[in-house]
Amino acid sequence: MSFIPYGRQSVDNDDIESVAEVLRSDWLTTGPKIAEFEKVLCAITEAQYTVVVSSGTAALHLSSLALLSEKDKVLTTPNSFAATANSILYAGGEPVFCDITPDGNIDFDLCEEMIKKDVGIKAIYAVHFSGNPVCQAKLRYLRETYDIKILEDCAHSIGASDSGVKAGSCTASDCSVLSFHPVKHLTTGEGGAVTTNSKEIYEKVLKLRTHGIVRDGFLNDDMAYDSKGNRNPWYYEMQELGYNYRITDIQCALGLSQIKRLGGFITRRRELAKRYDAAFAAGAVRPLYTYNGRSSYHLYVAMADFEKLPLTRAEFFMKMRERGIGLQLHYIPINKQPYYKALGYGEEYTPFMDDYYEQCFSLPMYPSLTDAEQDMVIEAVMELMNG
Ligand SMILES: Cc1ncc(COP(=O)(O)O)c(C=O)c1O
Repeated sequence: MSFIPYGRQSVDNDDIESVAEVLRSDWLTTGPKIAEFEKVLCAITEAQYTVVVSSGTAALHLSSLALLSEKDKVLTTPNSFAATANSILYAGGEPVFCDITPDGNIDFDLCEEMIKKDVGIKAIYAVHFSGNPVCQAKLRYLRETYDIKILEDCAHSIGASDSGVKAGSCTASDCSVLSFHPVKHLTTGEGGAVTTNSKEIYEKVLKLRTHGIVRDGFLNDDMAYDSKGNRNPWYYEMQELGYNYRITDIQCALGLSQIKRLGGFITRRRELAKRYDAAFAAGAVRPLYTYNGRSSYHLYVAMADFEKLPLTRAEFFMKMRERGIGLQLHYIPINKQPYYKALGYGEEYTPFMDDYYEQCFSLPMYPSLTDAEQDMVIEAVMELMNG
């Protein structure tokens, strides 16, 4: 029996052929696949602009540089991968951790209370946790009422939508971030994207992706042109301190091939979620949220009150592993990480996050998980948790 991990990529022969085709071509990087992938992502998310980059973390970093000024306070969730909050620090901002609601997403009502109390809060970074999109009406209300910047971390939620608003469309935000890590809905190996409807943010992120270097719109006219007004063909200009956060054509070819199957991937993830929901309708294990038609289920998170069970969560993880099944936990509260504690974080009043962290675990969720494999997972969970 092969091991069932909590998440994995689905790569087929078409994907491999698409990558091989680029390897045989003239362009391994900065070639035509970059713009092609960006165009398809615009169509999928319905955002006006997309910049693809080397990782979701790079996308967060560049977005933060585009959105924030030094010392800006940013409300964000403890229930995410560290990169979400880290990107605020990269840009010289100050993360302020806000508690979550019982579905694992940031609590917008609490955000409003915190904004009212602190004029230093300039932005909200909201994660669509597990693929379950945050409430777009509340997001829009906060953005319009308090004139704050909004970033949506859609690393988990491509293909999800709330009230017809697609994840990544930036209908109620300044920009969104996607990730193409192998456990996500579609992969480029490593990769990410910023989507936005703001030309200004788009141009800033585009410039920072490649060292802050431009090849038109020059500032040094005397160096850019010769005495007859010809543009010097070798000339480029570094106008800002940027990075090499480029993604390759090899990776974008994989993404372009994968994205053709995105609809099927999401359908399968949702089917699996419904099957888990049905299995855990009664008993010691319950879904974090029941099927709502909105989530695109990057993760399937389940909850159990381990204090009332004969085995600890660590024992549960180990016993599942002995049965060939990998579990994960999303997430250890970011504010409790030693790096953040050393900065003075960790004592925030976040009772929902604290409870959530005591009870959560993520079950295998990926499109190629078969019904039979999922049944094995369910059976193992039932046996261990329900006795
Ligand atoms: C919510 C969230 N944001 C950002 C990231 C960072 O993405 P990447 O791994 O592509 O850098 C992740 C990665 O797991 C994530 O889960």
